[in-house]
Amino acid sequence: MSAAPASAARTLRLRRPDDWHLHLRDGEQLGAVLPFTCARFARAIVMPNLQPPLTTTELALGYHRRICERLPAGAAFEPLMTVYLTDRTDPAEVDHAHESGRIFGFKLYPAGATTHSEAGVTDLRRIDRVLERMSEAGMVLQVHGETADPAVDVFEREARFIDEALAPLAQRHPRLRIVVEHITTRRAVQFVRAARPGIAATITPQHLLLDRNALFAGGIRPHHFCLPVLKTAADRAALIEAAVSGDARFFLGTDSAPHARRAKEAACGCAGIFSAHAAIELYAEAFESAGRLDALPGFASQFGADFYGLPRNSAEITLRREPWQVPDAYPFGADELVPLRAGQTVAWRIAS
Ligand code: NCD
Ligand code: ZN
Repeated sequence: MSAAPASAARTLRLRRPDDWHLHLRDGEQLGAVLPFTCARFARAIVMPNLQPPLTTTELALGYHRRICERLPAGAAFEPLMTVYLTDRTDPAEVDHAHESGRIFGFKLYPAGATTHSEAGVTDLRRIDRVLERMSEAGMVLQVHGETADPAVDVFEREARFIDEALAPLAQRHPRLRIVVEHITTRRAVQFVRAARPGIAATITPQHLLLDRNALFAGGIRPHHFCLPVLKTAADRAALIEAAVSGDARFFLGTDSAPHARRAKEAACGCAGIFSAHAAIELYAEAFESAGRLDALPGFASQFGADFYGLPRNSAEITLRREPWQVPDAYPFGADELVPLRAGQTVAWRIAS
C-alpha cells in the first residue's frame, strides 16, 4: 500500500501506523495520555521505566492489564510490552517473557542515562548471558544508546556509547536483534547503515523537526528537553535523510514521554517531550518539508512491523492538510501536561 496522492497531497491515506517506542506512565496519568495514542496507532512498544521498573514478565503483564483496563471504549489498540534489564536479570526471564506472547523485547538503560534508569545496567558484560538467551529466542533488545558517564559531554554521549559499548555488544551477539532507540546523530545513522543484519533504529518527531537551538530559543525551553538531547542541524539533516530514504532499518518511535508541567518547569526539570497528541501529524509535517510524503507509509506503518516479525495492520487512517492549534496544556491527573507545539499550529490533522 502506498500513500494516496489525493489533490496535491491535501489528504494522505495510510495503513494505520504503530509507535515502536512509547511511555504511557501509570494510573491517572496513563488514563490521560492513552487515548491520544489509541486515536492514531494500532500498537505501541511500551517502555518499562515505571517506578519501580518492570523488571519481570509478571510485572510487565500486570501493567498490560492496567493499560487494557484504561483503553477508551471501542479502541482497537494493542500494547506490546517490554521488560527492564538490570544487572541481575535472570536469563530464565527471557523464556518467561517469550512464552507470555505479550512481551516483545527487553529494554537496556545504561544505569543513570535517563529518566528512571537508576536500576539499569551498570556493566554490559553483566547481561551477556541474558543477551545470549534473547538471541536464541529471537527476542528484540531495545537500547537507550547513551553512555551514562557524566564526564562525557552530553552532546557526545550517543556517539560514544555506539563506538565503545554498542558496536562491541553487537559483535559479541551476532544474532541478537537490536533497535537503537530514538537516534539523534549522524553517527547513529552511519552505524545502523553499516551494521550487520538485525539492527534497526527508531526516530522521534522532535529530532526530525528541531535542533538544539530549540532548547534556547529566546530563553531556556524545558519542554524541548528530552534525552538523548536535541543535536545539531547537521545531525537533524542526517536523521531526515535516513527517515525518508525508504531504508527499512529506520522506523517510527515517538518516545512520547509525558511529565507534569511542574516537573518540567523547575530548577532541575526532567527529560521527556510529550508528542502523542499529534504524533503522526508531526511526522507528516517533517516528511512534507523534505518533499517526501510518499515515504511516510513505509516508515510509519510497515518497517517496524516487519522488523518485529508482526503482521502489518490492515486498518487505515486518513490525514488531512488542515492546520489546527494545539492547546496550551492537557489535563494530566492532578497536574497538567504541556505538549509539543503547545499553543502553536500543526499542519496536518487526523480526518478519520
Ligand atoms: C524518557 C522518560 O521520560 O521516561 N525521557 C526522555 O527524555 N526520552 C526516558 C527515555 O526514553 O529516555
Ligand atoms: Zn523513551
